[in-house]
Amino acid sequence: MKKPELSLYNKVALITGAAGGIGEAIVNLFGAAGARLFINGTQEEKLKALSDRLTVKGVEHSYKAIDITAPGAPQSLVDAVIDKMGTLDILVNCAGINRPERSEDVTEKNWDDIYNINVRALFFVSQAAGRLMIEKRQGKIINMSSQAGGVALPLRAAYCSSKGAVDQITRTLAYEWAEYNVQVNAVAPTFVETPLTRGMLEDEAFRSFVIGSIPAGRMATPEEVAYATLFLATDVANIITGHILLVDGGWTIK
Ligand SMILES: NC(=O)c1ccc[n+]([C@@H]2O[C@H](COP(=O)([O-])OP(=O)(O)OC[C@H]3O[C@@H](n4cnc5c(N)ncnc54)[C@H](O)[C@@H]3O)[C@@H](O)[C@H]2O)c1
Repeated sequence: MKKPELSLYNKVALITGAAGGIGEAIVNLFGAAGARLFINGTQEEKLKALSDRLTVKGVEHSYKAIDITAPGAPQSLVDAVIDKMGTLDILVNCAGINRPERSEDVTEKNWDDIYNINVRALFFVSQAAGRLMIEKRQGKIINMSSQAGGVALPLRAAYCSSKGAVDQITRTLAYEWAEYNVQVNAVAPTFVETPLTRGMLEDEAFRSFVIGSIPAGRMATPEEVAYATLFLATDVANIITGHILLVDGGWTIK
């Protein structure tokens, strides 16, 4: 009997935010599943270090450090993928930021920064990738959303609403592109310890609030988020589109 497997053999995957906590777990898992990778982030030295680790593991890859909120950057990123890898099968939109602050104090700059990366760049990288996928009549886009897209979290008006927008972009693109065999889904984790959350979780009261809000009694690991992403990226999930896959230990069932 054939063993069930989640394979990305020979598929080309573009991963934004690749050198972050969740991004690197996805990079490692996708590489182990046989994908050829194109990794993106803003920090050249972090990407170079990740690239060196992938080379040691024998994972075929290339990378480009670019701020995807810059004008024209989403298209030049996707152009670079085609230039280096020849094709694009999977896009994982993982880049994102959060700047928790009281709604009374939110500045226009912080609001715009969060929306520019979490929503605007995610849409335009998807657009550039989606055009190619529509032409190929095949593709997968997985957006890194958050439980914050569906529930309120204090101090996070911009972040929660940006992830709600990610969920709606996911559903809309899924609807528009289903006829072209392009599946668009999202993964929505609860809190995960990464550089994004490390500072917040140093506050013991906040950490207790987080753990106490998760029926499973613990946060998600980057690897658990990566496995949910891998599942949606493989051909076994070809009939699944427009889905928001919660990886939240039950936070949102209450
Ligand atoms: N950590 C959590 O608790 C958690 C929970 C739910 C959802 N998420 C989401 O998961 C994703 C990854 O989060 P993480 O925890 O790994 O964060 P992280 O800070 O470790 O990584 C985010 C990455 O995004 C990249 N990035 C930021 N702005 C960019 C830009 N303008 N252009 C290109 N790259 C850019 C950064 O270089 C960084 O490597 C984010 O979308 C985040 O909102 C995280």
